[in-house]
Amino acid sequence: QHIPVLCIDGPTASGKGTVAALLAQRLGYHFLDSGAMYRIAALAALRAGLTIAEVHEARIAELARQLPVRFEGARVLLGADDVSDAIRTEDAGMNASRVSALPAVRQALVALQHGFRRLPGLVADGRDMGTVIFPDAPLKVFLTASAQQRAERRYNQLISKGFCANIADLRADLEARDARDSTRSVAPMQPAQDALLLDNSHLTIEQTVEQVLAWWQERQ
Ligand code: C5P
Repeated sequence: QHIPVLCIDGPTASGKGTVAALLAQRLGYHFLDSGAMYRIAALAALRAGLTIAEVHEARIAELARQLPVRFEGARVLLGADDVSDAIRTEDAGMNASRVSALPAVRQALVALQHGFRRLPGLVADGRDMGTVIFPDAPLKVFLTASAQQRAERRYNQLISKGFCANIADLRADLEARDARDSTRSVAPMQPAQDALLLDNSHLTIEQTVEQVLAWWQERQ
């Protein structure tokens, strides 16, 4: 049984989360936010008193394998606890990046991610959706934007939520996170060989969605 998957991979704050969620909505497909899983795994580890380091890799992987996580619309629950906001901070992103470099943790989350592939189809957002998790996907998009653009977008998001932020610091943080994500030994962030690259530095979210939809329709 063939279940279509559309993969959107790319660096931090490239807009892929927003774009992927909109695509899922338009197509009536399921949506996998794989970054949220790493964010939750990191949070669960810290709550269990484990520092995110190789010495704890096996224990964190065990936690990740049994992660009591539920996605309910835009809300994310860890057990009975709504962690939707807690996993969205800059620190949570950096912790997710650390935890995601541990091979056993990545392995522990594979089955959970594959479970999202259900009819009528899936839009999957992450770093390795096209390279590792769904290599047979008919469309893989690698979405990028310049570091400055991405820092400005993140800045605007934070300011609109009432947080303080500084563009230069945000840019340094996201470049550090991308460097770690693209140089790790397991499933580094990189475009799949058959991915289409889309630089949306000068596109709106809507234009980005339209471009991907056009590619998707070409493949039907
Ligand atoms: O996409 P998001 O910023 O939520 O991802 C948080 C972190 O999780 C990333 O910086 C990356 O290290 C990790 N990640 C990953 N593989 C994925 C999705 C996210 O390694 N498929």
